[in-house]
Amino acid sequence: MKGVVLAGGTGTRLYPLTRLINKHLLPVGKYPMIVYGIDRLRQAGITDILIIMGKQSAGLYTDFLGSGKEFSVNLTYRIQEAAGGIAEALGLARGFVNQGERFIVLLGDNLFMDDLTPFVKSYERQPEGTARVLLKQVKDPKRYGVPVFDKNHFELILEIEEKPVNPKSSYCVTGIYMYDTAVFDIISQLSPSERGELEITDVNNVYAAQGKLEYDILHKWWSDAGTFESLQEAGRRMKGMIP
Ligand code: G1P
Repeated sequence: MKGVVLAGGTGTRLYPLTRLINKHLLPVGKYPMIVYGIDRLRQAGITDILIIMGKQSAGLYTDFLGSGKEFSVNLTYRIQEAAGGIAEALGLARGFVNQGERFIVLLGDNLFMDDLTPFVKSYERQPEGTARVLLKQVKDPKRYGVPVFDKNHFELILEIEEKPVNPKSSYCVTGIYMYDTAVFDIISQLSPSERGELEITDVNNVYAAQGKLEYDILHKWWSDAGTFESLQEAGRRMKGMIP
């Protein structure tokens, strides 16, 4: 398995800090935010990692992370020229992942304590052309993508509703996704959403509609550090996660 960390975007909810520096380099405990995702991948034995970033702060990423040697991983970098959505950024991983290979995608602002190893193993047992997402029970599902479950088997996700007014479950789809190279054909057939972006939820809904979207649930603490409040909480929680 390979890893892809998506670290582009403009981080408008964290203005004015993100005018100075890209969101995923903001401090969380002792490290820039992105280091925690890289460390979770390493823990699961995934050391070949692509970082997709915007032009903002690109030099700082390489200054800090270098080849990845210090973090026991091997890093490759790619630039997303303009913010065109999570799925567009993911499309840039084409070529990094070889035909027949599988990979896990992390949104760089998703911070979490679970070990990814069992989830990766479950995905490795799935048939080719299927996908897996990780869910977390949350108090405010409206802010996220929310799964609608298959009531009979409770194994598959039938659909994901993005930021629904009336969420059909108390779970959110976290920014942790597993795919094989079939995802690139799905991305190439997407149309931009109302906000003009290629949406990751549209990608996952193609799998869901075909009965090919499985899931696991994170049990430990998880947050997307996209707001000042969640960024501060992440700093407190993640302190000490990496020595
Ligand atoms: C994105 C996804 C959403 C997911 C969330 C997790 O939302 O579109 O489905 O629940 O990441 O962090 P965004 O943070 O881009 O609004």
